[in-house]
Order: sequence, then C-alpha cells, then structure tokens
Amino acid sequence: MNTILVGAQWGDEGKGKIIDVLTEEADIVVRSQGGNNAGHTVEIGKEKFILHLIPSGILRPGKKCVIANGVVVDPIALVKEIEGLEKRGIKLAGRLLISETAHLVLPYHRALDEARELRKGRDKIGTTKRGIGPAYGDKAARTGLRLIDLLQPKVFSAKLQARIAENNAILESLGGEQLSFPEVEKAYLEAARKLRPFIVNTVVWLHRQLETQKTLLFEGAQGTFLDIDFGTYPYVTSSNTTAGGSCTGSGIPPHRMDRVVGVMKAYTTRVGEGPLPTECPEVSDLLHGMGREFGATTGRARRCGWFDAVATRYARMVNGIDELAITNLDGLDSLKQILVCVAYDLRGKRLLYPPNDAEELLHCRPIYRKFQGWQMPTTDVRHFKKLPLAAQRYLTALAKLTGARLRIVSVGAQREQTFRT
Ligand code: GDP
Ligand code: IMO
Ligand code: MG
Repeated sequence: MNTILVGAQWGDEGKGKIIDVLTEEADIVVRSQGGNNAGHTVEIGKEKFILHLIPSGILRPGKKCVIANGVVVDPIALVKEIEGLEKRGIKLAGRLLISETAHLVLPYHRALDEARELRKGRDKIGTTKRGIGPAYGDKAARTGLRLIDLLQPKVFSAKLQARIAENNAILESLGGEQLSFPEVEKAYLEAARKLRPFIVNTVVWLHRQLETQKTLLFEGAQGTFLDIDFGTYPYVTSSNTTAGGSCTGSGIPPHRMDRVVGVMKAYTTRVGEGPLPTECPEVSDLLHGMGREFGATTGRARRCGWFDAVATRYARMVNGIDELAITNLDGLDSLKQILVCVAYDLRGKRLLYPPNDAEELLHCRPIYRKFQGWQMPTTDVRHFKKLPLAAQRYLTALAKLTGARLRIVSVGAQREQTFRT
C-alpha cells in the first residue's frame, strides 16, 4: 500500500507525528516537495526532533528515506541536519537517498526572499525566508542549479559565477546584500563532498523498490491552502503541496498510489500573512497560553482559530483524501463550547467551498455550528470509545463535514498519544 500524506489546512497539522506513526507499516518515506521551510516535529519519550528536509521516517531504525526531485535543497542546511541527527545517534549511511535532479537553494535565493519581503512591507507574504520562492522561480525559469551540477565542481563553479553576477545586479536594485562568488563556491563544494554518498537517481531507485514490493509513504510538507495552485494565492508557498505533487515530485505515477491520508488539527492555525476566515483571538490566547502553536521552523506565533470545514472539504476534494488523521484534540480539552465553521457567508451567499480570490476570502464570514465541549483531559485516552461522548461527537462531525473516514486520532505530541479508530 503506497500512501500519500498531506496537510489539509495551512501547514503544521502534525504531519511529522503522523508520518512517524505510519512509518511503522512502510518501507520508505519520501519527501517530494518544499524545502527547509518545513518543520516537522516528532516526540519520542524525552526526545524531540524537528525535521526540515529529511523525512520524519528517519527516526524509525531500518527505514529508508528519500529526498526526491521535487524538493528544493539547501545543501548547507541539509548537511547541518544530517550532522545534527548523527550526533543524536541516528544512522543515515545507506538510509538516506537524495535526488540528483533536486534543485539547489542558493544564498541569492535567501537574499532575494528577504529583500522582496522587506520591500513589500505590509503586503508581505510572511515567508520563512529560506529562499524557497526564488529557488522554485529559478527552476521554472530554467536558470536553476541542481545537485547533479554540484557533483561536477567545474560545471558548478562556471554556472554559479554567472548566476551570482546576475543575481547581484538584481539584489543591488532591491537594496539587498551582495554575494561573494568565492565564498559561496567554497561553502557549497564543501557541502557537496559531504552529500555525495547520498546522491543518486532516486526515480530509478524508487521504481526498483516498487518491483520488490516495498511500500512508499509520501510525507507532504506545508498544507493544501499553501499550495501554489489551490492555496490562498499569493499567500502561499511555491510548490504543489497537494497530493499530485507527490507524483511529479518523485517520478512515481498516479496509478501506483493507493491511498491519501489528510492530516488536520481539531482547530485551525496559520503562520504568515493571508486570509484565515475562522481566526479567533480567544483560540490563539488559549493555545499560546498553553505554550503551544509556535512555529517549528521560525518560532513565530501561529495564528489560531476554529475548525474550518469549508477549507477541509475543499482539501478532501483536491487531494482525494480517503482517510483522516485528526491531531491536537487535547488543545480543546478545557473549552465549554467549541465552534466549527460549516459554510461561509459572502455578501448574503452561502458558500460550501472557498472562493479563489484571497480578497473575496477576506470578506467571507464563517457560519458556525456550536458543539458542546468535554472539559476533561483526553491526553491519556487510547481508544475512540473511551473519549468523552462530546469529543466523540465532535470528531465524528469533523470527519463527516470534511467527507472522509476518520482513521487516526492524536491527543498529545508523543508517539504513544495516538490511536486508530
Ligand atoms: P507539521 O509541520 O505538520 O509536522 O507540524 P509541526 O510539527 O510544525 O506542528 C505540530 C505541533 O503539534 C508540534 O509541536 C507537535 O509536536 C504537536 N502535536 C502534534 N500532534 C499533537 C497532539 O495531538 N497534541 C499535542 N498537544 N501536540 C501535538
Ligand atoms: P510544514 O511542512 C506552515 C508558510 C510561510 C508563509 C508561506 C510562504 O511544517 O507544515 P515560504 O517560506 O514557503 O515561501 O513561505 O508559507 N509556510 C508554512 N507554514 N508550515 C509549513 O511547513 C510552512 N512552510 C511555509 O509561513 O506564510
Ligand atoms: Mg511544521
């Protein structure tokens, strides 16, 4: 069974945690889009890991992990992540494979990301400033450099020199920092020496694994509403975060995919700018007060709100979500009453799906259904039927409103705080 796992909201749904759970049944975990803008948290006992580029499956001994062609790789950040994991006793040799056709994030991408955000002022996207947008921009413009280039120092240096000259001119016009070719060249070639043993043709390697009946688990990064096509454009990331991105980002054809799991929180969060119809200060205060909902990559406070079934209904549709994993149920444990957005009101019109224009979305007023809270801790519960009745009703309603089967419930950050329904 090959599984695609996607975020059904605005990212940070708890994908890392659910991937860690599902990796038990998979042989290989694949990242196929995004870059180190992602921050996937896995807590195992007293240990907490935050993965940015390396699939979360790496924490399960013996499982193999692939950074496939659709990912944009910052080699310096990747070396740091590899070394950080090795220091903590995670063995990577022979377990991590990196695509030779993945595009590189270069220092001018980060500088451009930063300079453009600064110039936008109040209209900024609120990016992670990891250079993701400019790196995908170069890929589409056919001016990107790939890992395959990095493995050929002469080819790499020549291309890099030309790219730095052009980007320094752009950066100058934007008031950004100038980059030194020899410094970048040295740092990147050094990273290349460390990454070389991991770099392969992942398309051919993955297909060989399929021939021997190995099962794949695709670890989506970001979430449906950050997708470049289906998200709240322009307040999105620069890749296809939805299920289709797993195919184009890995070379595994659609008919080899068996199921799509959508991960969603029992409420909604978003980090960065852009519309968030159910945003609610009361929910933000509650969760931040519990020390929760601070970004795993940038540390920024996440904006919080009620569960938005208009959003997850759309996510189910565009991803083809079969099964749902609902996380962070415990975040709502103390509430007397919980609201769920079941439709939007746009100037008197009732909408079941979000409008495509981010401006229109700003004008949408959530139509809420009220649910009774359960006001008791759920963190020690391990069976659906042992949940307070109000919590059972709440979860059943979220799945029904979204239109997919509830399969996994998460009631805490720990690996064990998870159960299947
Ligand atoms: P990802 O990007 O989708 O992998 O999610 P993040 O790791 O960025 O954010 C999810 C946060 O919620 C992390 O701090 C997780 O440890 C935490 N988390 C995941 N599931 C649960 C849960 O059911 N309950 C609690 N309390 N925390 C959770
Ligand atoms: P994971 O995989 C939440 C958001 C940024 C910003 C927008 C564009 O951990 O769920 P970018 O740096 O990609 O150009 O930023 O996307 N963003 C995320 N939000 N979780 C993520 O990843 C995100 N990756 C990017 O905050 O609003
Ligand atoms: Mg995250």
